[in-house]
Amino acid sequence: MYTQSMDTQAPEARKAIRTAEEAVLQERFDERIDAGEFIEAKDWMPDDYRKTLIRQISQHAHSEIVGMLPEGNWVTRAPTLKRKAILLAKIQDEAGHGLYLYSAAETLGISRDQMLAALHSGKAKYSSIFNYPTLTWADVGVIGWLVDGAAIMNQVPICRCSYAPYARAMIRICREESFHQRQGYDALLTMMREGTDGQRGMVQDAVNRWWWPSIMMFGPHDADSPNSAQGMRWGIKRVSNDELRQKFVDAAVEQAKVLGVTLPDPDLKWNEERGHHDFGAIDWSEFWNVVGGNGPCNKERLATRVRAWDEGAWVREAALAHARKQEAKKEAA
Ligand SMILES: [Fe+2]
Ligand SMILES: [Fe+2]
Repeated sequence: MYTQSMDTQAPEARKAIRTAEEAVLQERFDERIDAGEFIEAKDWMPDDYRKTLIRQISQHAHSEIVGMLPEGNWVTRAPTLKRKAILLAKIQDEAGHGLYLYSAAETLGISRDQMLAALHSGKAKYSSIFNYPTLTWADVGVIGWLVDGAAIMNQVPICRCSYAPYARAMIRICREESFHQRQGYDALLTMMREGTDGQRGMVQDAVNRWWWPSIMMFGPHDADSPNSAQGMRWGIKRVSNDELRQKFVDAAVEQAKVLGVTLPDPDLKWNEERGHHDFGAIDWSEFWNVVGGNGPCNKERLATRVRAWDEGAWVREAALAHARKQEAKKEAA
C-alpha cells in the first residue's frame, strides 16, 4: 500500500516530502489570506498562525471572564433596581462572551481545561485593565463608557479576522458591547445631570483614574509592537494599535464634552493639521508593571477566579454525572 511504502522510506526522505507538501499548503494558505478568504477550523494553517490565535483568543476569553469581577462588586450596591438589572445583564453578557471565545479557541485544538489551568496558574494573561479597583458606583459607569468603549474599538476590526470561528464570535460580542457602552454612559449622564455635586465629583474622579489605563488597552505603540506586522499579514489584526487608540481618543473627547467631565491630560488638544487630537505621553512603566502582575488588584482577581473554579467543582461533577447517565440510558434503549 502507498502509505506503507511511504513508511519504509528513510526519515530524512519522509521529512523532505512533508516539507514539500507543506510548502504547497503554505502557498495556498497565503493566497487565501491575500484574497481575503476566511480560514475554517478544518482547513490547513501554519503552526504559528494556530498558536497566535490560541494565545489571542484564550487571552480574550480570560479577559471577558475576569472582567466580570470588578463590576460584580457593585451588583449588591447598585443605586436602583433598574441599574441593578442592567448591570446583571451586562455581567451575564461578559460570561457569554467568554464562553463563545473559549469555544472558538477549542476549534484550534486546545481544551477548555488547558486554557483555564493556564489562567489559574497565572501563566496566561488577561487584559490589565481589570486589575484596577472599582471604588465607587461611578466606576461602573466609566467602565462601560471607556473600557467597553475601548474594547469595541479594538474588537470591531476582529469581526473581519481571517479565522472564521473567531470572526463569527466577535460579531455577536460587538453588538452586545455597544449596549454595554451605552448603559455606562447613560449611568454617568444621569449622575452628571440629575446628581449632587458629590456625585458629579465621583464621576470626575473615576474618569481621572480610568482614562490612562483605558488608552493603554490598545497596547504598545506600533513601533514597539513587533508582532503586529505578522498579525496584519495573517489578517488577524486589521488596524494598528496607534490608529485604534487615536480613533478612541477622538471619540471620547466629544463624549466627555457632552458629559461635562474633563479628561486628565493637559496635552490633549485638537490638531488641525492632522485632523485628530494630540495627547500626552503614556506612562508605559505603569502598563508593564500591571502586566507583570503588580497592579492594584492582580492577586485579588486571580484568587477570586481560582476560588470560583474550586467552589464550582460540584457543578461540573454533577453535569458530567448527568451526561454519563443520559448516555447510559441511550445505550440501554
Ligand atoms: Fe465583553
Ligand atoms: Fe462588555
